[in-house]
Amino acid sequence: MPTLPNKTASPLADRERYIPRGLAHYHPVVVESASGATLRGVDGREYLDFAGGIGVLNAGHCHPKVVKAVQEQAAKLIHSAVQVAPPRVYVEVCRKLVEAAPGAFAKKAVLLNTGAEAVETAVKLARAFTRRPGIVSFEGSFHGRTYMAMRLNGKHKPLRTRVGPFPGDVYHVPFPNPYRPPAGVAAKDLTRYCMGRLEDLLTTTTAPEEVAAVIIEPVQGEGGFIVPPKDFLPALRAFCDRHGILLIIDEVQAGFGRTGTLFACEQAGVAGDLLLAAKSIAAGLPLSAIVGRADVMDSLEPGGLGGTYTGNPLACAAALAVFGLVETEDLLGKAKRVGEAIKRSFDKLAKASPIVGESRGLGAMRAIELVTDKRTKAPLPEADMKRILELCREKGLLVIKAGGHGNVLRCLVPLTVGDAHLARGLKIIADVVLGLKRS
Ligand SMILES: Cc1ncc(COP(=O)(O)O)c(C=O)c1O
Repeated sequence: MPTLPNKTASPLADRERYIPRGLAHYHPVVVESASGATLRGVDGREYLDFAGGIGVLNAGHCHPKVVKAVQEQAAKLIHSAVQVAPPRVYVEVCRKLVEAAPGAFAKKAVLLNTGAEAVETAVKLARAFTRRPGIVSFEGSFHGRTYMAMRLNGKHKPLRTRVGPFPGDVYHVPFPNPYRPPAGVAAKDLTRYCMGRLEDLLTTTTAPEEVAAVIIEPVQGEGGFIVPPKDFLPALRAFCDRHGILLIIDEVQAGFGRTGTLFACEQAGVAGDLLLAAKSIAAGLPLSAIVGRADVMDSLEPGGLGGTYTGNPLACAAALAVFGLVETEDLLGKAKRVGEAIKRSFDKLAKASPIVGESRGLGAMRAIELVTDKRTKAPLPEADMKRILELCREKGLLVIKAGGHGNVLRCLVPLTVGDAHLARGLKIIADVVLGLKRS
């Protein structure tokens, strides 16, 4: 049994003492409050927040309209349990989702708490509807920390280390990464190559009548903000239709305005049979959703969907406020403008810096991939990435990384960020990257 460390009074030391190491954090900052695109630590220091709660705060921290909606809801109804009697705001959020989701077919929606829970539930629905077991996922993908979601993730370490066994009937295929195509494959042939690998899967490892669904992020998030070629999602849609396989589009990170449309898949002209949303849907309150084909959504027996806290009224009130902000604050227009400003800055940095291999993204979901050599594309080592995050923090900016090699600096700044804050944060990133002395 480990001995107890000395009792301390510092929140950061208490964080180390009382919270297990499995819960990692990018920054040793204990947060007291936040507003707009800034966070304040318990020591009173203010930081620009370019992590945006990992894609949760498209509408900004503590937006007054979200705060008001949650406060008013709290005074009226905090919980009824949807299985006992659904809150009005739950029903309203589902209606809004059905109206907003792409696809000219009858739809229904269900609310849950987390992204991973939406993933798990979508897998249940797909299996129940098709009566097939298999699920195809992509290398480099991220779908969460619960067992099925972990199994679907296209990366083993660190999440799957030492915690198996995992659920079965999951297959992984390559995701088209234009910056790192497989050896011998030209970037222009990526879609054809990846679709060929999918077809091969159905003739070698499994068969169409064994596969319920393909799950995909329209832009890989944790995988490093990888945008597939324009023709890939339409080709995937056609593949699924050809084989009677359902398409699950996981917009947990890319959705709710981040890419300049409410859902990123709209830009590819593709609708999923099931569409998953979470994160920025409720501006920081725990809420996720599945909106999809009514016949698929109806495939579970009564009682097969739900959960005590799912679609909590406070979270639903926040989501309705966010739907309002999409209109009144032109969140989608803001995503385009913020995205263009980040792109200009990151493109310039990619030209000026020998360690920025690529500037990429869609709308305001933007990143730079850092390498030691632009020709070999060898990833910048972890110690250097850590130093970049530290130096940014010292200059007052919280930013986070992503990617299979942890060498992608990603920007998920609130879309409501002011011009001055945005420019200051981008300058900090440029100064730190250009001035980095590698270890
Ligand atoms: C695309 C995607 N799906 C699912 C998840 C899991 O969401 P949660 O952490 O809310 O379970 C994430 C989380 O980052 C994600 O980015």
